[in-house]
Amino acid sequence: MAPGKGILAADESDATAGKRLAMVHLPNEEGNRQDFREILFTAPGIEEYISGVIMYDSTMRTGTDAGIPFPDVLTAKGIVPGIKVDLGTVDLEGFKGEVVSQGLDGLKERFAEYYDLGARFAKWRAVITIDEDELPTDAALTMNAIMLTRYAQIAQAAGIVPMVEPEVIYTGDHNLAKAEMVTTRALQILFQTLMTYKVDLEGLILKSSMVLAGDMNSEQSTPEQVANATIRTFHMSVPHEVGGIVFLSGGQTPRRSTENLNAIAKLGEQPWPITFSFSRAIEEPMLLAWQGKPENIAVAQDTLLQVCKFNSQASLGRYDKAADNILK
Ligand code: 13P
Repeated sequence: MAPGKGILAADESDATAGKRLAMVHLPNEEGNRQDFREILFTAPGIEEYISGVIMYDSTMRTGTDAGIPFPDVLTAKGIVPGIKVDLGTVDLEGFKGEVVSQGLDGLKERFAEYYDLGARFAKWRAVITIDEDELPTDAALTMNAIMLTRYAQIAQAAGIVPMVEPEVIYTGDHNLAKAEMVTTRALQILFQTLMTYKVDLEGLILKSSMVLAGDMNSEQSTPEQVANATIRTFHMSVPHEVGGIVFLSGGQTPRRSTENLNAIAKLGEQPWPITFSFSRAIEEPMLLAWQGKPENIAVAQDTLLQVCKFNSQASLGRYDKAADNILK
């Protein structure tokens, strides 16, 4: 949570990495996934703007062409390696359209191994969908809060900082007010549960969605509306001891993610440090510059550096979109 720095979420599962590679017409093969990660992690200078990288299990066990494990590449740059540990979602029986994340079984042992591989923080993602007037139910929010809490307890006992991520999904036709109501409720239930089970809030990071109208809503939220609704939500739900708050980009364009982060930072100092932890909004411009071609790697890494720099500036409220001809 160092000022002016953020976290790169490079924790796509092997299947989701395939969606990124498909953007540049590359098949989802181990070699292409490894190239993609090597370009990200070895980009010169990213450590000026990136303090942590979240990886997926297979990424954590892979390395550069020269054989250096990715966690060691990052640690050598002063970037803290992190690991995504939930194993994805399954249906919540009896609650149509709602899901719960799994992965608690054997987590203590997995954390011990990840710690040995270099991980010092971890992420668990819960998925919350807004649908008409019905969803999400308090039952689903509560079940996910319990799973997030149990995960956070096990992480802290293993010496690993938990990042808890209740992602309120951007897809849908809900309006801004509904997004604010749902996010506030989800976070209130989550933090009540974390406190009930004595999770150390100072040693925990919240990874949140920004509060904004769904992508199909006719009235798309402006950066100022997003900023006000998001900060209001946090003040209604997040205890001040929490170590920090980071944002996912959630399917917003890279430019919009950065503009919204900038508007949030412009509201001034908050009780928590706040920054970015984007995946798509950071990786997509780099992928488009790379196009899977070795001769484009230097340009792709420079694009990545610029994108990280713009987000660093945005986290401080100093992003100037007139000076940006990279983010779309
Ligand atoms: P996006 O920024 O692409 O939403 O990914 C962040 C993340 O970690 C989602 O779980």
